[in-house]
Amino acid sequence: MDGITDAPMRALVGEWGCFSYCVTEFVRVSSEALPAKVFRREVPELATGGQTATGLPVQVQILGGDPERMAISALAAVRAGATSIDINFGCPSPTVNGNDGGASLLKSPCRIRDVVRAVRGALPTEVSVSAKLRLGWESIDDIFENAPMAVEGGASWLTLHARTRTQRYDPPVFWPQLARVRELVGVPIIANGDIFSLDDFHRCRDVTGCGHFMLGRGALATPGLAWQVARDLGLPVVNQPEATWEERLNRLIHWCEQFHPGTERRTLARLKQWLNIAYRHGDFDLFQRVKRAESLAEVLSQLDKEVVNKKL
Ligand SMILES: Cc1cc2nc3c(=O)[nH]c(=O)nc-3n(C[C@H](O)[C@H](O)[C@H](O)COP(=O)(O)O)c2cc1C
Repeated sequence: MDGITDAPMRALVGEWGCFSYCVTEFVRVSSEALPAKVFRREVPELATGGQTATGLPVQVQILGGDPERMAISALAAVRAGATSIDINFGCPSPTVNGNDGGASLLKSPCRIRDVVRAVRGALPTEVSVSAKLRLGWESIDDIFENAPMAVEGGASWLTLHARTRTQRYDPPVFWPQLARVRELVGVPIIANGDIFSLDDFHRCRDVTGCGHFMLGRGALATPGLAWQVARDLGLPVVNQPEATWEERLNRLIHWCEQFHPGTERRTLARLKQWLNIAYRHGDFDLFQRVKRAESLAEVLSQLDKEVVNKKL
């Protein structure tokens, strides 16, 4: 998630021991193809075998509408160490869409195929290529054209956020569409959108029939959720860490300090973003008390022991 799941956050969730892999924030390819150094900078895990220091595989996500520039950039990412590439056809940002990227390609299914095909064709076969799509720009039924096009281009799996671009993040999510796409295409579908509780996960699994799930905001809002989902799916999980919010926040501060030493304001911003998600989509409301905090010490001083010692 752009602006949130940067390298420190990826290292942190790697510690939780319940994700199969994570995906970078999108790296945007605009007027020129990107060189390998951009990927080395944006995805420091590429220097360590494409895994976080905590052992979580990292997939590199790229975004753009020009097949050739996307292919050259994907190859540069692989030369920098990427072992798996995801292509973003879901970003709803007006700036991104106005520059021919993300969800704007949902209006032209053939262009989705052409971008995926160019990227797939440029990379060694052992590097996997997947695509992330919303259902359509305006119509939830466009996915029945867009998804097969991504597969025709060579995507090995699709992650589907069950909303249109015009919905942005508004309800509802249309999980039933994913069940129909799953029957239509011969590749795994990763169901995504509005899994905020174990109950949501069960309903999503029942409605979509999917065996793979992507958790975005819910994974951060309720840090124990991914562990519960993984255990339900029968995935190998480490023992659920008995962590309090205070411990988890301190671990994020630790990882921010590892990657960006001496940049307290950056760490503070990242902490607030996380707490904002927890406030909006979970049941931890510290954000209300710290949104104007000027320092990490101020945030930590607001931790109410009674509340934060709740195990998650
Ligand atoms: C702040 C923010 C940034 C996001 N950035 C990305 C991104 O860079 N790449 C991407 O594929 N999806 C991105 N997304 C979309 C999420 O990956 C996910 O599809 C969406 O939030 C729905 O899933 P959720 O309900 O589990 O959060 C972003 C979402 C948010 C809220």
